[in-house]
Amino acid sequence: MIDFIEKTLKDAGALALSFMNNAIGEQKQDRSLVSEADLEVERFIISRLKTSFPNDNVIGEELGGGETQSSRRSRLWAIDPIDGTNPFLNGLPTWGVSVGVMEDGKPIAGGFHMPVVDEMFLALKGKGATRNGKALPNLQDMEINNQTVMLGPSSRKRFYKLDYPGKSIAYGSASAHVAYAATGGVIAALVDRPQIWDILGPLAVLQEVGGGAYHPDGHSLDLQKLVNGEKAEGPVFFGLKENAGKIFPLIEVYPRPKP
Ligand code: IPD
Ligand code: CA
Ligand code: CA
Repeated sequence: MIDFIEKTLKDAGALALSFMNNAIGEQKQDRSLVSEADLEVERFIISRLKTSFPNDNVIGEELGGGETQSSRRSRLWAIDPIDGTNPFLNGLPTWGVSVGVMEDGKPIAGGFHMPVVDEMFLALKGKGATRNGKALPNLQDMEINNQTVMLGPSSRKRFYKLDYPGKSIAYGSASAHVAYAATGGVIAALVDRPQIWDILGPLAVLQEVGGGAYHPDGHSLDLQKLVNGEKAEGPVFFGLKENAGKIFPLIEVYPRPKP
């Protein structure tokens, strides 16, 4: 399964890259962007999945799908063909292809690949996680000082007041944020209202190094609630649980218009 994910991510990344600098974006109803590249890459990944795992469920950001009531206990793959469509369309390097698979509400394998910067994150449950083929170590508790990096919201920053003294960086890709949260280089990835395809692949990686996804009240994110494409209640902290308790008191969430 992990070889399948790695090869699919590599091939899908190369396909996406072939569209870069020529793709034209359109705004979807939710005001996020989509291009022909997103659609082509998602079709490509789905066709690979249908050949190799014909009995599994698949949900993709652009073409839908998801888990049906009758198949709640079977495997579900979640695909984001290009996470970071904005940087992709603007010629910036911080986008990638995200593929994850879950069973009974838990990630069992996944990965995230950023073709421009040549980053490949991969994990198989219980077998550890790798970044470019090198094992990632377990996350460590971190102190917050003015050099501590947190990956935070970009456009959705207006819904938050961050009283965070360290560095807050936004790459424009939730998947990249969650993947980098698994490297130990940052204290957290704080993601506003993620959807399953944004996070499942890199969450498989994060979980292998001791991290997880937490709400402000300390509860773990329930992936089962996201299997039909719903947005999680935000903000969601991705990282080591001990560090979530240090970050959330520094964040004030403003009320926002629905949805
Ligand atoms: C978006 C990116 C962005 C995050 C949005 C996502 P897309 O995904 O991950 O960083 O803030 O919530 O929808 O549209 O680039 O696949
Ligand atoms: Ca996305
Ligand atoms: Ca996308």
